[in-house]
Amino acid sequence: MSNGAVEPANLSEVPEIKAADFPANFVWGSATAAYQIEGAVREDGRGQSIWDTFSHTPGKIENGENGDVANDHYHLWPDDVKLMQNLNLNGYRFSIAWSRIFPQGKGEVNQKGLDFYDRLIDTLLAANIQPFVTLYHWDLPQALQDKGGWANRDTANYFAEYAELIARKFGDRVKNWITHNEPFVATMMGNYMGVHAPGLHDLRTALQVSYNLLLSHGMAVPRLREYSPNCQAGITLVLNPAYPATNSSDDAEAARRFDGFFNRWFLDPVFGKGFPADMVELYGEAAPEMQSADLQTMGVPLDFLGVNYYSRAVIKAASTKEGGIGAEQVKVAGAQRTAMDWEVYPAALTEMLVRVKNEYNPAKIYITENGAAYEDRVENGRVHDVERLNYLKHHFAAVKAALDRGVPMAGYFAWSLMDNFEWSYGYGKRFGLTYVDYQTQQRIIKDSGLWYANFIQQ
Ligand code: FCB
Repeated sequence: MSNGAVEPANLSEVPEIKAADFPANFVWGSATAAYQIEGAVREDGRGQSIWDTFSHTPGKIENGENGDVANDHYHLWPDDVKLMQNLNLNGYRFSIAWSRIFPQGKGEVNQKGLDFYDRLIDTLLAANIQPFVTLYHWDLPQALQDKGGWANRDTANYFAEYAELIARKFGDRVKNWITHNEPFVATMMGNYMGVHAPGLHDLRTALQVSYNLLLSHGMAVPRLREYSPNCQAGITLVLNPAYPATNSSDDAEAARRFDGFFNRWFLDPVFGKGFPADMVELYGEAAPEMQSADLQTMGVPLDFLGVNYYSRAVIKAASTKEGGIGAEQVKVAGAQRTAMDWEVYPAALTEMLVRVKNEYNPAKIYITENGAAYEDRVENGRVHDVERLNYLKHHFAAVKAALDRGVPMAGYFAWSLMDNFEWSYGYGKRFGLTYVDYQTQQRIIKDSGLWYANFIQQ
């Protein structure tokens, strides 16, 4: 096209891909997060989290839904481990609800909360499923939010104490740790766009939150290593590769700013480069005060990087400012989109992984989330989710392409083990390899899950 407009992916040929195309010790898993599946929010001493507060605030969640019951995984977890066995998974990524362990965020420990995860971990290990444990998947104890939340530097200290306790209790058995899930989303969607808990709309607060989140990551890693001998510690970032909508220099600059906003603001400090100078300048007054000792803490060397990937962003320059950055996302004509309205574009995953290797050189990379929501229907007890199945095949091939280009890929976790509470979208968006009937809590493995099970087994 004359203006250099980006093209949609050509997805007509679905790649045939086999587990044998990947290294023998590659981890094939699936992922969940505590608030999205556990339910039992008032049981066994669990404290309130910011997601309880947010989801009970009228108007925040579609259909007024919340995670009070969710998938009732808190009670049904033995069945869910069997489900993982039926899927032949050899890895399972889940998160711990901080407020089950420290109902007030700090201080008094809730033994029943520890017991729940203790049993889960032992059962996973007995089933030969490696646990990958995320310490923070967005459910900050409300008691800490009441003291300023992540904008308060003390929260980073409390997080490090929480990490230490978890490592002391489970570090003998859990050997893969993820400090944070997607600090971009916790930061910007929670504190600037206001569509996630705690629902704030303040750039300055958001940027301070990002600083303290990354600081807490850096503080937690040495504690994990101390109490979980020979563990592997990392962080999960969501990466959203930015492509200029046209070949105009304005759009190229806007895409560069979007990349700074979404990707580099987190990648750079995690890999010891401090915050990107162009973004610090752009944010101006709103940027947090930075101390070099903190930047060093944030850049603690990691054993792996977790990458969550769903889609790319096609960007044009805009006068209306998204994140104060003068960039706007546009839709590519003719592109396939999921039920989230996210473009299906697997090649950007390969390109991003190659870029991360070249620019940051992580020791290992896991895809800690990847998947798609579609309008699933149960027909005669089956879910024929061919679109999700094709999405997986295309993205497995994209990971394989990265491996072929020398990226140290170590595993893949499909989002998600089962349909669950999709944050502000409630239960309407289904990402699972397994269908969940929320009336009966029945789980039905979808065709994509059956395919995945077979793929792993071979
Ligand atoms: C990611 C989240 C995960 C899930 C997927 C669809 O941003 O980490 O909890 O909601 O998106």
